[in-house]
Amino acid sequence: MTRDDKPEVIRLLRTLPEFEPPEVAVAEEVIDSYLDNPSGSGYYIQVAEAGSRVAGYICYGPAPLTEGTWDVYWLAVSTEKQGKGIGSALMTFAEDEIRRAEGRLIIIETSSKPGYQKTRRFYLNRGYRIVGCLSDFYAPGDDKLTHQKRLK
Ligand SMILES: CC(C)(COP(=O)(O)OP(=O)(O)OC[C@H]1O[C@@H](n2cnc3c(N)ncnc32)[C@H](O)[C@@H]1OP(=O)(O)O)[C@@H](O)C(=O)NCCC(=O)NCCS
Repeated sequence: MTRDDKPEVIRLLRTLPEFEPPEVAVAEEVIDSYLDNPSGSGYYIQVAEAGSRVAGYICYGPAPLTEGTWDVYWLAVSTEKQGKGIGSALMTFAEDEIRRAEGRLIIIETSSKPGYQKTRRFYLNRGYRIVGCLSDFYAPGDDKLTHQKRLK
């Protein structure tokens, strides 16, 4: 991701119904942290392009104070480009990079809200098992689900 990609990534995030404005604000902080110091921020961000336009992005990084555990923080594909394999391609890209960096475990957190059902199925179909549930974490009735995939 470069600075030129940022406006399109932010616009994409704002149009997705899954993300509330405060979540987009946090995503932007993480993006700024990466763009200010790409090799030292602790984040890695890759965009996917369709034609010459940004179609999606993934943000991931090593979980601090762990041996080989990585977090996928954000993954998003624009509404009109979903279902075309872009999310899978971004996921595979990140997994390959994490493997190259000797990562062994990937963690992704999602919400139990009905609006995230498609997202949960996407992760489950790609080998990310649900290994934890923190009840009412985000809000009453909205649990935090922890997905995990072992690379070795
Ligand atoms: C979750 C998300 C990233 C998936 O991205 P995507 O580009 O739609 O994902 P893909 O196209 O790779 O796969 C989606 C489904 O479409 C299918 N698909 C893949 N290529 C396809 C194609 N060319 N034509 C039709 N369907 C296709 C896949 O088989 C997959 O179905 P499956 O999970 O049953 O296997 C995207 O839906 C999204 O941005 N959601 C909103 C934001 C979000 O929830 N982010 C995660 C926060 S934790």
